[in-house]
Amino acid sequence: MTNYGVVGVGYFGAELARIMKKNEGAAVTVVYDPENGEKIAKELGCAVASSLDELVSRADVDCVIVATPNYLHKEPVMKAAQNGKHVFCEKPIALNYKDCDEMVSVCEENNVIFMAGHVMNFFNGVRHAKQLIKDGAIGKVLYCHSARNGWEDVQSSVSWKKIREKSGGHLYHHIHELDCVQFIMGETPETVYMNADNVAHKGEAFGDEDDMLFINMKFSDHRYAVLEWGSAFHWPEHYLLIQGTEGAIKLNMYDAGGTLKVDGKETHFLLHETQEEDDDRTRIYHSTEMDGAIQYGNPDKIPPLWLQGIMVNEMKYLNDIMHGMEASDEFKPLLTGEAARAAIATADACTKSRYEGRVVKVSEITG
Ligand SMILES: NC(=O)c1ccc[n+]([C@@H]2O[C@H](COP(=O)([O-])OP(=O)(O)OC[C@H]3O[C@@H](n4cnc5c(N)ncnc54)[C@H](O)[C@@H]3O)[C@@H](O)[C@H]2O)c1
Repeated sequence: MTNYGVVGVGYFGAELARIMKKNEGAAVTVVYDPENGEKIAKELGCAVASSLDELVSRADVDCVIVATPNYLHKEPVMKAAQNGKHVFCEKPIALNYKDCDEMVSVCEENNVIFMAGHVMNFFNGVRHAKQLIKDGAIGKVLYCHSARNGWEDVQSSVSWKKIREKSGGHLYHHIHELDCVQFIMGETPETVYMNADNVAHKGEAFGDEDDMLFINMKFSDHRYAVLEWGSAFHWPEHYLLIQGTEGAIKLNMYDAGGTLKVDGKETHFLLHETQEEDDDRTRIYHSTEMDGAIQYGNPDKIPPLWLQGIMVNEMKYLNDIMHGMEASDEFKPLLTGEAARAAIATADACTKSRYEGRVVKVSEITG
């Protein structure tokens, strides 16, 4: 039996706990959350810790799942590792490279797993696309283009997810696409350039994050990527387009589905596990006019079908690893925090570029 303790049981943490509990050989023994802890502990039938220190030092915890707001990930990860507990941490693992580096180092020193919640890796469509690329279906990958754009109206209150200092803004909060592009390219870019601005969400009713971000990346060997994010687009789009020398792949998260295009012929595949999940995602995205990525919630709000599906895959993978499953070579950097740290290194280079108005080498961040 592997025992899990969950730190932060809001919208996402509570569902991670519910899902993990259903795995074979998994138990959620304790939660810690000053606001929602009591309630979720009651629902799960587990203990509630009165402090982070109590949770991470309990003998009946083997692995700590961290799902606090983004700016509050570092302390629970460090303390869990220092107490010899394995860690799963939601994305982004931290909001700057230095913090990520310390977190990766402390997990390495204590010989514990440090899995990042980069859930896009568990999309059926992403796995299929990576396999197609490995099999040479589109030749050499030359270019990736991702867009995660929608429109956001005034919300009833300003969530921490809209405050740059707490969430990192779209670039850090929605690190999924950047991480995915780096997995596909097999490396971090050499240089980046980012333009970003708050063009339509100024004032007290909004946070302070940029609502339009445009990134240009140069990889080794004449390969490139362009990534866009934002909440100031009335024509919503959410996709990752991968262009190769022999063909192309489109992962469409808005009209959910995947397409392989070779010699003008299109072959379609599922983005998620079932057609029902893909249809559910398409319906939700079309009905909200948002990019579907900005999810506000509380523990009572249950994630949509497609998101639950990938959370199930992710939690099963973590539990299998905890039970001794060997990680594939591709996923090894996901289990040490290194892939997550590499994504934040690039994000930091983009941020530097935005404020200094110049092309930045990622090595300026990583040293
Ligand atoms: N992978 C995904 O697709 C995805 C989706 C949604 C959220 N997330 C991530 O999950 C994390 C949580 O997001 P959410 O949507 O659940 O936010 P949320 O605001 O609903 O929940 C955060 C919870 O953390 C608790 N909390 C705050 N400070 C704490 C502390 N110091 N110690 C313990 N608990 C504390 C809050 O009381 C709240 O219950 C974030 O890192 C977010 O980026 C990931």
